[in-house]
Amino acid sequence: MKKLEEYVRSIPDFPEPGIIFRDVTSILQDADGLKLAVDSMQALLEDTDADVIVGTESRGFIFGAPIAYNLHKPLVLVRKKGKLPCETVEKSYDLEYGSATIEMHKDSIKPGQKVVIVDDLIATGGTIEAAAKLVEELGGTVVKVIFLMELEGLKGRERLKGYDVESVIKYQGK
Ligand code: PRP
Ligand code: MG
Repeated sequence: MKKLEEYVRSIPDFPEPGIIFRDVTSILQDADGLKLAVDSMQALLEDTDADVIVGTESRGFIFGAPIAYNLHKPLVLVRKKGKLPCETVEKSYDLEYGSATIEMHKDSIKPGQKVVIVDDLIATGGTIEAAAKLVEELGGTVVKVIFLMELEGLKGRERLKGYDVESVIKYQGK
C-alpha cells in the first residue's frame, strides 16, 4: 500500500520562486489517498475529547467535514470575510502570501465547548492562530489543532505555542 507522502505532488516555484507547493489535490483525486488522509488525521484525535470540529475555508473543510461526520460531532465553519449571513466575529491575519480576514458566526460555539481545529496545512500558522482567537473570543477552548501537512521551516508551531498541535506529514523546508 502506498504511503500518504507518496500521494502528495510537490510543485517547485509555485506560487512564487523558492516556494515548494505541496498539492493536496493529488491526494484527494485518489480514493485511497483521500481515505488514508482522513483516517490519518482522525487518528490524531484518538485521545481527544471534543464537542465541536472547526474547519477553516477552504481546504480545512475537506478534512473537517468527514472527521466531524465520523465522530458524530458538529462542524463549524471559519469562513473568509463576507460569506457568513448572520452575526459574526472576525479577525485579520498575515498569510504566507498577502493577508486575509476570517469570520465565524457568533452562535457557532457555545461558551465552554471543547474545540478541535482542522486544516490541511500549517505554513506560518497565521490562519490557525486567527481561527483559535475567534474560537476563544466565543468562549470555546481549543483542545487540539490538527493538520495533514506541516512546513516546519516556516515555524508555524512557534506561533501556536500553548496549543496542542499535531500534523500527519512534516516537511523540513518551506
Ligand atoms: C492555505 C492552507 C492553510 C493556510 C496555511 O490556505 O490551506 O489554510 O494557507 O498558511 P498559514 O499557516 O501561513 O496561515 P489559503 O489561505 O491559501 O486558502 P484555501 O484553503 O482556501 O486554499
Ligand atoms: Mg486554507
